[in-house]
Amino acid sequence: MKMNPIKLRENIYWVGGIDWNLRDFHGYLTQRGTTYNAYLVIDDKITLIDTVREYLSQELIERISTLVDPSKIDYIITNHVEMDHSGSLPKIIELAPQATIFTSPQGEKGLNAHYKNDWNIEVVKSGETLSLGKKSLQFLQTPLVHWPDNMVSYMPEEKILFSNDAFGQHISSSERFDDQYPLDITLEEAKKYYANIVLPYGKQVKKALESASQLEIEMIAPSHGLIWRKNLPTILEEYKKWSGNETEEKGVVVFDTMWGSTGKIARSIQKAFENQGIKIAMRNLKYNHISDVMTEVITSKYICVGSPTLNNGILPSVSSFLTYMKGLSPKERKGLAFGSYGWSGESVGVIEEVLRDCGFDLIEQVRLQYIPDDSSLNEIEEKIKESI
Ligand code: FEO
Repeated sequence: MKMNPIKLRENIYWVGGIDWNLRDFHGYLTQRGTTYNAYLVIDDKITLIDTVREYLSQELIERISTLVDPSKIDYIITNHVEMDHSGSLPKIIELAPQATIFTSPQGEKGLNAHYKNDWNIEVVKSGETLSLGKKSLQFLQTPLVHWPDNMVSYMPEEKILFSNDAFGQHISSSERFDDQYPLDITLEEAKKYYANIVLPYGKQVKKALESASQLEIEMIAPSHGLIWRKNLPTILEEYKKWSGNETEEKGVVVFDTMWGSTGKIARSIQKAFENQGIKIAMRNLKYNHISDVMTEVITSKYICVGSPTLNNGILPSVSSFLTYMKGLSPKERKGLAFGSYGWSGESVGVIEEVLRDCGFDLIEQVRLQYIPDDSSLNEIEEKIKESI
């Protein structure tokens, strides 16, 4: 049975792979699976833009084969070396050994380091154009969106931006375009993707958005999820907000609890914020994956983190979240550390140190012993009212 390609425009097709069962993408819970989008341009030069993860290479080859003989591929564009996009290169080159790979200077280094092969690689830089015949591709380097090698390819004749990781979402579906799939889910997954993959590189995203704003774009074809052809202004506006660290006047309370006392403090903090008219999302780490918590963090101004003291430190679930969040490096937030303790009581200090390392402005901490009584819980409200 042949797998079908999907037409984007005349002689331009999606030929990627659908990873229906993927639930973990380097620690990120991908509850909707994902796609690895590769695109085939049929012109004087048969051109493949990116490939798919190695284990879906047969799917890619079958989709290409319904359109052209894969051995006829002339050009391969490697916008990004990470193996979800380059993993099928060895199989494609086996079929089309004459093909030339076009990639960024860092891309060339990355391909050599990953595959140690004698492939025909040609380095391209920002502003360079490659003619495919009637159509062409202009390259724009976008380092660190997501790796140092990243670049995007723009086809001026069709006004399509092949954006690789940028603007992606981890969604597996038969639908290929944003107007065929519920927009609220696509935007939520784009937000989760930004929060868990792109967030550390906000500055670079801003720069890339500035360069892209010079281009006339009718379609953004990313390397994961749905292709944007209808809601471009919406996703571009969201990227502008996320890369500019724009938050909403809302907060998230992230915590774990041992005997329920830190949970009581968490609920009092929730009430205190809500009484100030600030919405709060409660995220108990026993029931929420850290990658889903990050989707809240991306738009929240107040990040409250709580743990009881365990063995002079914090609970492993909270430690895992803090390590993850610090790596993703959200900026311009206000942090609040809280927790209960029995005797030594180090947890709140440990949390505060990480929030400080994240560069957050700190709100006065809440640290209560054993089972907090009503009067100490009520004091939290006053404290928060004064310090936010
Ligand atoms: Fe989808 Fe950075 O790879």
